[in-house]
Amino acid sequence: TPLSVGVDVGGSRIKAGLVDDHGRVVHATRHDTPHRTTAPKDVEDAVVAVVSELVAHPQARERGTAGVGIGAAGFVAADRGTVVFAPHLSWRDEPLREKLSGRLGLPVVVENDANAAAWAEHRFGAARGESHLVMVTLGTGIGGAMLVDGRLQRGRHGLAGEFGHMTVVPDGRACPCGQRGCWEQYASGTVLRRGALEVLAAGGPDAAALLGACGGDPEQLRGEDVTRLAGAGDRASTALVAEVGRWLGAGLAAVVAALDPGMLVVGGGGSEAGELLLAPARAELARRLPGRGYRPVPPVRAAELGVGAGLVGAADLARRPR
Ligand code: BGC
Ligand code: NA
Ligand code: ZN
Repeated sequence: TPLSVGVDVGGSRIKAGLVDDHGRVVHATRHDTPHRTTAPKDVEDAVVAVVSELVAHPQARERGTAGVGIGAAGFVAADRGTVVFAPHLSWRDEPLREKLSGRLGLPVVVENDANAAAWAEHRFGAARGESHLVMVTLGTGIGGAMLVDGRLQRGRHGLAGEFGHMTVVPDGRACPCGQRGCWEQYASGTVLRRGALEVLAAGGPDAAALLGACGGDPEQLRGEDVTRLAGAGDRASTALVAEVGRWLGAGLAAVVAALDPGMLVVGGGGSEAGELLLAPARAELARRLPGRGYRPVPPVRAAELGVGAGLVGAADLARRPR
């Protein structure tokens, strides 16, 4: 059977891979995402470059390429072709499928990145056998997705599941979606980075490990550096991850109140923080759940496919054009 290409276009990184029909990644590649202040075509060009690289790979030449699935970090219209809006990318009403299929000469499906990740976890990962699933991905922002009776729920216009933009703090921190106090401004890789920059600015012994991680240049510091340092036992980084975990749990309580899923899967860079993130999230979720003590608390699991979930799901969706 032919392979398909999955591309996860995130706010910071483009991750792409050749995927077989069992969700196995045969070969993967990545590229930095052109900054959101650059032209929309820059991101398109970067996507075309990674896909062209993959299609030319010996395995793809031998087995053929069935199609391309794009998981895009933004609001994707019900046509699964247009990126309506993307807080962390330059795309606005972007007819992405049309442009990409024209340039690549292959069938293209566009899906929200978190929807793609949830689909992958349901088919091949932590949520196999669970038909009522909510997934959140922590990266530049928070992506959200829900499956009900095993089907992705996209809403009337394709825009459902934007949990990252639920207000958790009225008039709180500004968000690139145009609102204030959104959940992703309190729980995401961007929040870890921001917190770490504050620790660096304050100086002192807490800053030492973080300063080392960015080679002395705070500009180079990324959320995943904080996650890695927390995993290695750095105290300040561990505290930052735990705080993001509490905000994660607080928002999940609202999601569970609304949707009553059987399982919550946490993916994106957040999946790499493991229990340092998930334990505080679970505690906060249990504490804030309406009617607590009288209802099941859904399990909170890390994405089994890790940061690859989005590309695997996009590749699988490319095999199901409708
Ligand atoms: C966007 C979502 C996306 C998420 C994760 C959010 O800011 O609104 O569409 O899924 O970031 O990339
Ligand atoms: Na979504
Ligand atoms: Zn927002």
